[in-house]
Formats: sequence, structure tokens, C-alpha cells
Amino acid sequence: MEYDGSVSSLTHIISSYLALNDLERPFIAKNLYHLSRDDGLVRTIPLHDAFTIADLQSFIFDHKEHIGHPLISALDSNVCRGEYIVNLLHGQFGEDGGAQTLATLLGLRGTFGDPNVASLTMDKYAMSAFVSSHFTGEGLKVPITKFLPERNGDNWRPFARAIKGPIVVKPNSLGSSLFAKLFDNATDSEAEIDALLRTIFRYDSAALIQEFVPGDEYTCGCILSASEVIPLPVVKIDADMQFFGRDQKYSGKIARKCIVRSEDALSKRLQAIAKSLASSLPFYNMVRFDFRVCDNCDVWFLECNYIPGLDKDGSFDRMLGHFGMSVVDLISWIAVNATPFAKKDHYIEYESL
Ligand SMILES: Nc1ncnc2c1ncn2[C@@H]1O[C@H](COP(=O)(O)OP(=O)(O)O)[C@@H](O)[C@H]1O
Ligand SMILES: [Mg+2]
Repeated sequence: MEYDGSVSSLTHIISSYLALNDLERPFIAKNLYHLSRDDGLVRTIPLHDAFTIADLQSFIFDHKEHIGHPLISALDSNVCRGEYIVNLLHGQFGEDGGAQTLATLLGLRGTFGDPNVASLTMDKYAMSAFVSSHFTGEGLKVPITKFLPERNGDNWRPFARAIKGPIVVKPNSLGSSLFAKLFDNATDSEAEIDALLRTIFRYDSAALIQEFVPGDEYTCGCILSASEVIPLPVVKIDADMQFFGRDQKYSGKIARKCIVRSEDALSKRLQAIAKSLASSLPFYNMVRFDFRVCDNCDVWFLECNYIPGLDKDGSFDRMLGHFGMSVVDLISWIAVNATPFAKKDHYIEYESL
């Protein structure tokens, strides 16, 4: 589903890695693993000495003649290789606890993190509920949101009416702004909303009907070592029509991203909120939170990205750049400094307690 985002992250990391000479590289990348969107199989791309970004692009474009394996076997066969795996599978199964569960059960090394936290963050409704309870009375708002399970899909009208004003209809757990849409007036757009919900329910078991929050969009990432949570510089996203949907995200033209000066009070405030959120759950490695800020300075939580996109000049890349890190430095930093997630003991010896 979010294949394009994963490919952009991979391409940026590999081009940055290849641009360094051998001595500058903080680690040795051995293999790339490509999960095909056509047949769902994983194929290995060995990184040989003369490897170029064009080799990666042609492999991605046409890989059918190479032998592929199901994701489960590909992960399983990595157990004996013991490689450190950087998981760039955005979205379904890669970011929602699926791949994280497999990695935990197999004991793989890498950036997978805690499966429960991955699935909580991908569930926008559950995550917002967590955030609003964590920040009770501390100035972080969450938009009024109605959770619409598929079985109740025809019953959205009372929800939309109760919200008053423009509404956003979006999937509960698909990312990349897939199918997120703003409606100025729900009553005038009933047929369109019905059609959008039908599309959403093909891919997601629930949709959200949410109040539209006007204002500016900001995002703040954090990197997490074993001992501290470091908030990165805040990025402001200027989107056309105040709505950063799929068209804006992928056109590359409309949404402008700029770093907010670290001395700004708003930057400090968002960093403090991001740090508090990142510390409130067992996150590992990195995470990114998206906010909206209204004219009256209210801060609203929009969503949490468990695997932030690492595409060139994307929000996280800009934050890192301003912090003085490249995406290659980030991977090296995480591998050295972040606590590896390990599953807890599951057998309780009651007699010895
Ligand atoms: N309630 C809302 N009010 C205003 N804008 C919203 C709202 N929900 C979503 N958006 C816009 O749509 C974009 C995508 O929605 P988001 O919840 O972040 O999902 P995704 O996982 O697809 O990124 C946001 O970046 C924001 O610009
Ligand atoms: Mg988003």
C-alpha cells in the first residue's frame, strides 16, 4: 500500500550511502531486500563494489527473473545471517505490528521495535485516545473523531452532523494520506462520502469522520537512545488549501517544508510535546508526530508515524539535516545507541516468586 514511500526512503538512504567513500561509511551495507508490490515476494539485491543507484532503480523496475521468497521465509533465512535489518516497510504489515511480531518471534536484529507500540500508533483512533488521556489538561488537543467500523459504514450521517463545520473522512490505519479527504459541507457531498467510504472499506476495516482543524501543520521527530529522547528541529508544512492530502504529498510542488527556528516559542513547545509523547510509550529508534496549530496557538495532535519517511527532503530528512545528521548517520546512530527491542520472558516461575 505504501510501497512508493518505502522505495523513496530506500533510494535516499542508498544514494547517500553510495555517495560516501569506503572510509566515510559508518557501516557496511551488504544486502537490500525488495518486497515486490506485484507478487508480494522478497528478492535480495546484493550491494557489490560497483553498485550504483541505477542498478537499484532497474531492479525495482524489473525484478521478475530473480527468485523471490515469501516475507516470512525471507525473514527466517536472515536468522542465521544475523544481519542488522533496517525496516523501511511503511504501512500495512510493515509498520502496524505485523513485521515487528515476526521479527520478535524470530529474534531478528534491527529497527523493528515493539509490535504492540507499532500497532497502537497505526490505529489512529486508539492512538488519539491514548494521547488525549496522556495530555489531560496540558494543552494538547485531539480533533473530535468518530470511529466508523465497516459494519456501521452506512451510518455516518449523524456523526458528520454532530461535528458541524467541515469534516475530514479518512481511513483509520492506512497512511500516506491515502483516501483522506476534506468536505466543506457533508450534506452536499453525501454521494461522494458514501463512495469514498466504500473505497476505504476495501482496504481498511474502519474509517474516521473527524472535525477539520484549521491552521498550520507542523511535525516533530525524535530519535531515541537507550538513555534519552532527543527531539529534532520542528518542520512546518505549508500545504495548499490547508490540507496535506495525497496529491500534495506526492506532487512535490505544493507542500513546502521549512525548519522552524529553534528559538521560537512554538518550536520549543512542540519539541516538549513530542518528547513527552515519545517518552510515554516504549518507542525505540525514532518516531515522528504531526500537529496542527491554530491561530490562537492551540496545538492539536494529528497522528504518530512509527516509521517516519526517510525520503530526500522529506520532513524527517530536513529535521535530521538541520540537526547535523544524514540518513546514513541516523542508521549508524540507531544501531549504536538505541536499545535493541527484545521480547520479555514469557514463562513465569511462580514457585520462585
Ligand atoms: N482533522 C484534520 N484537520 C485538518 N487536516 C487534516 C485532518 N486530518 C487529516 N488532515 C490532513 O490530511 C493529511 C493526512 O492525514 P493524516 O491523519 O496525517 O493521515 P496519513 O496517515 O495519511 O498521513 C494531514 O497531514 C493533514 O494535512
Ligand atoms: Mg500524516
